[in-house]
Amino acid sequence: MSENNSPLDIEKISSLCKRRGFIYQSSEIYGGLASTWDYGPLGVELKRNVKEHWWNTMVWERDDMVGLDASILMHPDTWRASGHLENFTDPLVECNDCNRRYREDHVEGEVCPECSGELTDPRLFHLMFKTFMGPVEEDASIVYLRPETAQGIFVNFNNVINSTRKKLPFGIAQIGKAFRNEITTGNFIFRTREFEMMEIEYFVMPGEDEEIHDKWIQDCLSWYRQIGLNPDNLRVRPHDADELSHYAKATYDIEYHFPWGWGEIQGIANRTDYDLKSHMDMSGEKLTYFDHLSGQHVIPYVIEPSSGVDRAVMALLVDAYQEETITSAAGKPETRVLLKLDPSICPVKVAVLPLSRNDKLTPLAKSVFDKLRKSKLIGGHVQYDDAQSIGRRYRRQDEIGTPLCVTVDFDSLDDNAVTVRERDSMEQTRISLDDLESDIEAKITT
Ligand code: GAP
Repeated sequence: MSENNSPLDIEKISSLCKRRGFIYQSSEIYGGLASTWDYGPLGVELKRNVKEHWWNTMVWERDDMVGLDASILMHPDTWRASGHLENFTDPLVECNDCNRRYREDHVEGEVCPECSGELTDPRLFHLMFKTFMGPVEEDASIVYLRPETAQGIFVNFNNVINSTRKKLPFGIAQIGKAFRNEITTGNFIFRTREFEMMEIEYFVMPGEDEEIHDKWIQDCLSWYRQIGLNPDNLRVRPHDADELSHYAKATYDIEYHFPWGWGEIQGIANRTDYDLKSHMDMSGEKLTYFDHLSGQHVIPYVIEPSSGVDRAVMALLVDAYQEETITSAAGKPETRVLLKLDPSICPVKVAVLPLSRNDKLTPLAKSVFDKLRKSKLIGGHVQYDDAQSIGRRYRRQDEIGTPLCVTVDFDSLDDNAVTVRERDSMEQTRISLDDLESDIEAKITT
C-alpha cells in the first residue's frame, strides 16, 4: 500500500462530497446560486458532530460557560452601536474592461487577474445584507441579517448575569448562522455569503485580559487537534496593526494549511470593553458587573474565540482525504480513496454488511444493525449496506470515512461471530457477537 502525495485538487473533494451526499450546490436544479451550499445526509451528520464536539468541550466540560441562542434579526441600533454600519466594509475594485469585481486585498498585482484590464480605485463596499421588517419597504423598516453572532451575546449581557449569577471570568457560547455579502467567494465552502459560526464572548476583569487571551488560543488549538486535524497543518498568526477589526486590541488567527495556502479557520480577538461600552452609550442601559471584592461596578473586557463551522468542516475534509494504491483481489493495482476522519466526528461510525442478501444472513445482519443503532455510543451513526460486492461496499465506506465495517457471513450463523474490518489498516478480526459493542467502543474511543 502506498500513499499518493501529490497536491490535493479541491475538485476531488467537492465531487466526492456531491457523489456521497456530504455537500450539494444550493438550488442546483435552477443552475445553482453562487457560493451557497446545502449539506446532504452525510454532511449534516458531520457538521452536527463538529458542533456537538465543540459544545461539549467549550460549554459542558467547563464550569465557567453558559449557552445562548439569539435571533438573527436584531434591532438596527445594534449595528450602529457595534460599529458595523460604519466600519463593516471591504475595499472593492472593478475591472474597466471586463467589469469583474474583486476585493482589493485578494488581487495580486495591479491589473485584472482575468483579462489584465485596468482596475478602478478602491471604493468601500458594505458587507451586511439588508432586508425589510413588515409590509412596507422604507428606510424606517430596514433590518440586517447578522454578520456575526457576537452582538446577540452582548445585548443579552444583563439578562444572562441576572438569570445565572455568573461571576467573572465567565463566557457565553453560541452557534448560529451569519451572513456577509462577500465581494469574492470561493474555494468551495471556505468563503460563502451564508455560513455558520461557533462563537464565545468570554468576560474578564480588565487587566486579566492578556493572560486569558493566551490561554484561549491554546485551548482552541487543542480543540482542533482533538477533532483530528494534523497539528503540522495548524498555525497561529497574530494580526498586523492594519488588519485589526475596529473593535480589537489584538487578534490571533488559527490558520489551516489548505491546498491553496494558509487560511483562517478561527479568529481569537481581545475586544476590550468596546462592545459593552458602545451598547451602554446607544441604549442607555448599564451593562456592568458588580465586583464584590472591590465594591466597584466594572465594564468587563472580552476575549472572543470565533470560529466558522464550515471552515472547520472544510479543513477536516482536506485533512482526511487520502488516496492509496493497493492491490485488488485480482492482483491489479487500484486506487483506494479514504477519508481518515477521527471517529469522534465521522458521520458513520460503523457499517453492517451482510456478505450477501439471503434468508438466513439478512435477519442476523439486521438484528446486529438494530442493536448497534440503539447503542448509546454509536446511536444513529450506523449504516446498513447489502448492495453489490463486499469489496465495493468496503470502498464506499472508506470513501465516507467509516472507521469500522462489521461483516456478517455464513460462518456467523454457526460461530455467532462477525468480522470487524478497520478502515485505516484494513485489518480484519473475528469478534464474538457478545463482545461486539465493547470491541467497537474500544476501537472508536482510543
Ligand atoms: N465575531 C468575530 C468575527 O466575526 P471573523 O474573523 O470575521 O470574526 C470569525 O469571523 C470566523 O468566521 C472566521 O475565522 C471564519 O472561520 C468564519 N467566517 C468568516 N467569514 C466567513 C465566510 N464568508 N464564509 C465562511 N466562514 C466565514
